[in-house]
Amino acid sequence: MSAPAVRRMRWWDIPAVMTIEESVFPSTAWTPAQFWSELAQDDRAYFVTEVDGRVVAYGGVMVRPPTADIQTIAVEPEHHGRGIARDLLARLLTAAETGRCTEVLLEVRADNAQAIALYDAAGFTVIARRSAYYGPGEDALIMRRRGS
Ligand SMILES: CC(C)(COP(=O)(O)OP(=O)(O)OC[C@H]1O[C@@H](n2cnc3c(N)ncnc32)[C@H](O)[C@@H]1OP(=O)(O)O)[C@@H](O)C(=O)NCCC(=O)NCCS
Repeated sequence: MSAPAVRRMRWWDIPAVMTIEESVFPSTAWTPAQFWSELAQDDRAYFVTEVDGRVVAYGGVMVRPPTADIQTIAVEPEHHGRGIARDLLARLLTAAETGRCTEVLLEVRADNAQAIALYDAAGFTVIARRSAYYGPGEDALIMRRRGS
């Protein structure tokens, strides 16, 4: 198995990204049109991670200085726990810094322990909780990372 390699996401990655999207977000998956729209916007930076020439993860950030917003990040389940999200997130944070953002925000489901641990390890802290943000009983945490 080759080492994971991160590169810019392109439109032809959308089918592979959709396969992962539908497996990790079964009830809230974005549509291909949403990914097309994201890739079309100048203030977005999207990346994919490949292993053996196959896309196994993706992530994107909106860069609007002074603030950047993590739009999404996901890893194919069979590749969890290998540091792939950590490396992708680092790439998103570099894109935010390069775009002169001094803070990065994100929303995460309050019950998504793996993602919260990922963000916590990268220096994000919880700044707000939005009750029923994703539906009844499904709260969101707003997390922020300041500086570079
Ligand atoms: C959250 C997610 C992206 C993590 O991807 P991953 O590649 O498995 O994560 P990594 O291996 O890079 O782990 C990085 C850090 O995240 C945390 N983490 C990841 N998985 C974890 C788990 N199962 N339990 C506890 N902490 C975990 C740890 O802090 C870890 O650092 P460590 O290995 O030094 O302890 C992945 O579980 C996923 O795709 N989930 C479904 C989609 C999703 O929820 N995306 C986030 C939406 S906001």
